[in-house]
Amino acid sequence: FMLNLVKMEVRPHAAHDADVGLTGTKLGCAEGGCGACTVMISKFHPHLKCIVHHAVNACLAPVCSLHHCAVITVDGIGTVASRLHPVQERIAKAHGSQCGFCTPGMVMSMYTLLRNNPEPSMVDIEEAFQGNLCRCTGYRPILEGYKTFAKVLDFGLWYCEDPTVLNQMYDPSKFIPLDPTQEVIFPPELLNLGKQPPRQMKFKGERVLWIQPSTLTELLDLKSHYPESKLVVGNTEVGMPMKFKNLLYPVILAPAYISELNSVQHTKQGIVFGAACTLTLLGEVLRDAVAKLPTYQTEVFKAILEQLRWFAGKQIRNVAVCLEQTIIKYCFKFGAVLMDDNFFPGYRKTALKPEEILLSIEIPYTKKGQYFSAFKQSPRQEDDIAIVTCGMNVVFKEGSNIVEKILLSFGGMAPTTVIPKTTCKKLIGSAWNEKLLEDACASLAEEMVLPPSAPGGMVPYRRTLTLSLFFKFYLTVKHYLAVDLQHEVLIRYYSSATELFHKDSPSSVQLFQAVPPGQSSEDFVGRPIMHLSALKQATGEAVYCDDIPCYENELHLALITSTKAHAHILSIDTGEAMTVPGVVAFVFAKDIPGSNITGPAFYDESVLAEKMVTCVGHIVGAVVADTQAHAQRAAKVVKITYDELKPIISIQDAIDSQSFYQPVRTMKKGDTAQGFKDSDHILEGEIHIGGQEHFYLETNCTVAVPKGEDGEMELFVSTQTASKTQALVAKALGVPANRIVCRVKRMGGGFGGKESRSIILSTVVAVAAMKRPVRCMLDRDEDMLVTGGRHPFLGRYKVGYMTSGKIIALDVTFYANAGNSKDLSFSIVERALFHMENSYNIPHVCGTGYMCKTNLPSNTAFRGFGGPQGMMVAESWMSDVALACGIPSYEVRRMNLYNEGDLTPFNQRLEQFTIGKCWEECLDISNYMKRQGAVEEFNRYFHRWTKRGLSIIPTKFGISFTSVFLNQAGALVHIYTDGSVLLTHGGTEMGQGLHTKMVQVASRALGIPCSKIFISETSTNTVANTSPTAASASSDLNGMAVYNACQTLLQRLEPYKVKNPKGSWEDWVNAAYFDRVNLSANGFYNNSGRAFNYFSYGVSCSEVEIDCLTGRQKTLHTTIVMDVGKSLNPAIDIGQVEGAFMQGLGLFTLEELHYSPQGSLLTRGPGMYKIPAFGDIPVELQVSLLRDSPNDKAIFSSKVLGEPPLFMAASVFYAIKDAITAARSESGLSGPFRLDSPATSERIRNACEDRFTKLCPPAEPGTYTPWAVRV
Ligand SMILES: Cc1cc2nc3c(=O)[nH]c(=O)nc-3n(C[C@H](O)[C@H](O)[C@H](O)COP(=O)(O)OP(=O)(O)OC[C@H]3O[C@@H](n4cnc5c(N)ncnc54)[C@H](O)[C@@H]3O)c2cc1C
Ligand code: FES
Ligand code: FES
Repeated sequence: FMLNLVKMEVRPHAAHDADVGLTGTKLGCAEGGCGACTVMISKFHPHLKCIVHHAVNACLAPVCSLHHCAVITVDGIGTVASRLHPVQERIAKAHGSQCGFCTPGMVMSMYTLLRNNPEPSMVDIEEAFQGNLCRCTGYRPILEGYKTFAKVLDFGLWYCEDPTVLNQMYDPSKFIPLDPTQEVIFPPELLNLGKQPPRQMKFKGERVLWIQPSTLTELLDLKSHYPESKLVVGNTEVGMPMKFKNLLYPVILAPAYISELNSVQHTKQGIVFGAACTLTLLGEVLRDAVAKLPTYQTEVFKAILEQLRWFAGKQIRNVAVCLEQTIIKYCFKFGAVLMDDNFFPGYRKTALKPEEILLSIEIPYTKKGQYFSAFKQSPRQEDDIAIVTCGMNVVFKEGSNIVEKILLSFGGMAPTTVIPKTTCKKLIGSAWNEKLLEDACASLAEEMVLPPSAPGGMVPYRRTLTLSLFFKFYLTVKHYLAVDLQHEVLIRYYSSATELFHKDSPSSVQLFQAVPPGQSSEDFVGRPIMHLSALKQATGEAVYCDDIPCYENELHLALITSTKAHAHILSIDTGEAMTVPGVVAFVFAKDIPGSNITGPAFYDESVLAEKMVTCVGHIVGAVVADTQAHAQRAAKVVKITYDELKPIISIQDAIDSQSFYQPVRTMKKGDTAQGFKDSDHILEGEIHIGGQEHFYLETNCTVAVPKGEDGEMELFVSTQTASKTQALVAKALGVPANRIVCRVKRMGGGFGGKESRSIILSTVVAVAAMKRPVRCMLDRDEDMLVTGGRHPFLGRYKVGYMTSGKIIALDVTFYANAGNSKDLSFSIVERALFHMENSYNIPHVCGTGYMCKTNLPSNTAFRGFGGPQGMMVAESWMSDVALACGIPSYEVRRMNLYNEGDLTPFNQRLEQFTIGKCWEECLDISNYMKRQGAVEEFNRYFHRWTKRGLSIIPTKFGISFTSVFLNQAGALVHIYTDGSVLLTHGGTEMGQGLHTKMVQVASRALGIPCSKIFISETSTNTVANTSPTAASASSDLNGMAVYNACQTLLQRLEPYKVKNPKGSWEDWVNAAYFDRVNLSANGFYNNSGRAFNYFSYGVSCSEVEIDCLTGRQKTLHTTIVMDVGKSLNPAIDIGQVEGAFMQGLGLFTLEELHYSPQGSLLTRGPGMYKIPAFGDIPVELQVSLLRDSPNDKAIFSSKVLGEPPLFMAASVFYAIKDAITAARSESGLSGPFRLDSPATSERIRNACEDRFTKLCPPAEPGTYTPWAVRV
């Protein structure tokens, strides 16, 4: 095959990018779920007789499948130095690249789309990104940048006459135009080879024989010769167990080129697809048939097309075939068989015998009087596996509504497809009316049972869905019958239940303040300049930790982790692991030369578990080998025997056994006992807020290089905390810190997950690297297993309030699931208490925070650091009070807001308090009052089964490390004799644009353009004793340190400026140099000991729509107004607002970590753990940076905002709660009700109680062992 036009030959172990010297394509998950590895594969298609271009996931594409293909990666389409491709330029300049780790994948998805369609529609663009994830940007800027390729251009909703308010962060008229004639050609050599008759191909690897037969006869012979061989087409099914479960298929048959398996035939009964036809081809053929055939004939085709919209992402559909789907008929070697429930005898099993193969699938036409629907309900709409899926088919007696045949088929209700035969039988002969509906529901409820401990959990929800989806089918068919038989028409109030899920293309507005008139054009502070690495990130040239070229004698490390949550280690057997080729050594606790005791704030954990393990995923040891694959294979066969102890998994377990870390923190203001006495009413409640996985796209990575003398070691790490890594590695190696240099170029995202938990991996790698360089980049499943995430919280509260809605007293208790070590939990629980009243002035407050000691991997810092959980509990009691008083929630919230000069519960006076201003602007630009009226009308008059909700939520977020000593920073600035400046500071770059802002600060401070200033990396040998890049405080602290260093240099240069006022920067620098002036300076800054240096404020309003029958929700509108002081860089700040908002949206509506009752994490990758995708962006998104609100407490009057906007997503959660309230009122329910976070489709559906939920009650708790427990 050819890789970027270079001929490649397959060699064993050639899969790593570094082998071919390319750094562009990234590995984010290795399971086809994130799209970071997207490349374009082009080939001459022997059956279609043309060249086809497909975006595919490189992580799942077997290298042997590339025979005669041309592979184009991000590195092959443009570079910064030569020529940028327009897709690279536009994502960067539209601010669509923050950490950049997802960017190459985005670029290649868009590039491939343009290769196939140079003038795509917005729908095409959205479809192209269904398989790509980004954790930083919130997606809006990526779409915005790529909208410029679309036929219809739309640059937002806003028009403003005020010249000081801007809404354009880049100028699309300056973009390089797309010129399809300039694209890389398909190599003629491959074209010629592709046209030649196929021949059998064999590739023999270390453990696998890959055979690509060229004819059906060859395939059948091979299959009978190797009955246990595996057929592989797209490898999207087979590849995963091979990677993650160590499964081995020694013989693989690849039938992708056999003509019979690629044919598409139109027959009298339907369309027959060869078994190797991809889902993309299937979709194209069906779409064409739907356009050409009479509509009654294509009912099944339409249903399949609707399902294909939600089947995986484009990259998967381009290669995968439709073997696993609920389709109708299949033919194999010996004849045709109906694809009914007998076809799937067990989980992932078919009726095929080992020597048989599937030849084709026939999808039949439908007839007049036949109706067919398919439904799929999944946690996330796009690219997600179904919770419940179904196909429903009914045939009526001619010209009547009497059922002649009916077939219902459900997935997700058992390990195989289930057909409720009794129900189907009962309905034959019935008229399609309310009585049939009742009979069907009662019968389905009896027939579609699931044991309460069924794998996958959500049992009442899944059962309810079978009824709800049948109800949708019932209404849909009723509607068709009304049209076909001229029966009574379905009234609009009910008909919304029949609508297919649809979301308009998103549109957005970003508002920010223009720089003052007269600001020099060379002064970039306040201007929306692009992230300084964005172009390199878009071309794949930006270097991340694992892109560092391999050292000659380098080894790879894999972790050996515990499979038990709480146990004594009895023995460790490495016998089998030793036999894996390439294994060099094992590392266990006894091999640590220094101290095995570690911990970022308290020394309460071990680097490697010695006698006891305290969580599943506890690191016990490591294997080093010549390749990553060998190390991982060996690690998986190390046998550990345990003596198990009872684990404590959940917060409730910890409360029951009083398992808490000390101290218990309390915070008080006023007299709560008196406050409750003075209140008209008191209510009590609780809310559980689930944890969250950081899901930075770049997993943890360390490369450790021993220097060979005096114990020196150099570490390249993806970490937010270079100094802490240095200190703890030195401690473990038993050397002084001055022997260890820790270097951080950039991270592919951090979000708090690399503030402390990255250190253990770095330490293990360092211990293994005492003699030879060692590298380890964790796989996604390992990273999710070992590193912990956001703390789950339980908030219990008691609120005293007046009939007017005014709150008088609050008593709140937080329980945070800290896991198996203290890590940063004390400060996290403390911050939750600092934010327990959110932005409300409550006269009497008492808060208590517990750190629950459990047998889960230690939870840790995550954007917001406990603040969002504290504020979420506050909004829960606020919502309860509003519901109890029957007053609109925005009125209750408004009346309780703080005012300028009020005191917080920790006695900090609120100065320059701008929430009122944010609130008014948010009400104004969201058209809140008008929206409120429209929502009420929508709910009351027109929609029984779809409801809308609206909410407005404030936030006040304290800026500072609450551990006072951390509020310090350093910088080092060198001016070289050519006038160029090398800037170093203590902060690390993880995509948040810190380096860009620091260059802007230095540029203004020194009075030189940004282009003269360069930041290479963060390192402990340039700036010592740095604080972690965290607490949103980094641009404040480091910005002041940079400013301080620049001031020193300016003073030194001042005499030369005075002497030569017309001279250039270079003249002054040179003159000073020859005068023997020191042109290097360090800077330092620390700030006060107050709880917070200042607060960031914001207000957000959201409107949502929920489907009461399935629990699916979509965010229709969000307005966010944030006070960022005088923004240093509006593009970066808006990027932070939107990215944090989307991460919050994931936290509060989607992301769920599931743990087994034994404490094992079940959600270990993007297949099971869903972060928001492109389809989750609000349909309308407005972000406004508050104007005219300078902040006198930080650099150039700015404010930081890495963390504060995350909580703005709570407005979506409470809008959902508002919509559920409307749904519940249809069932006569009113008043406060409990809604835990995240508000998933399951929780939404269960809360919308109705006649269907009543038929599927939950089992009595304690009578069964659930599949997963809430931790
Ligand atoms: C990110 C991601 C998202 C996904 N989303 C979905 C989803 O939304 N819905 C869903 O249902 N599935 C989903 N899947 C699962 C999977 O992609 C599909 O089931 C797909 O149809 C498998 O096709 P493939 O060609 O890649 O299979 P392969 O991995 O190549 O093979 C699949 C199985 O079929 C057998 N096989 C292949 N061809 C033949 C033949 N001719 N005769 C007999 N046996 C044969 C193979 O031996 C193997 O057991 C997803 C997978 C991934 C990785
Ligand atoms: S790395 Fe391939 S899709 Fe995630
Ligand atoms: S920029 Fe997309 S993951 Fe960081």
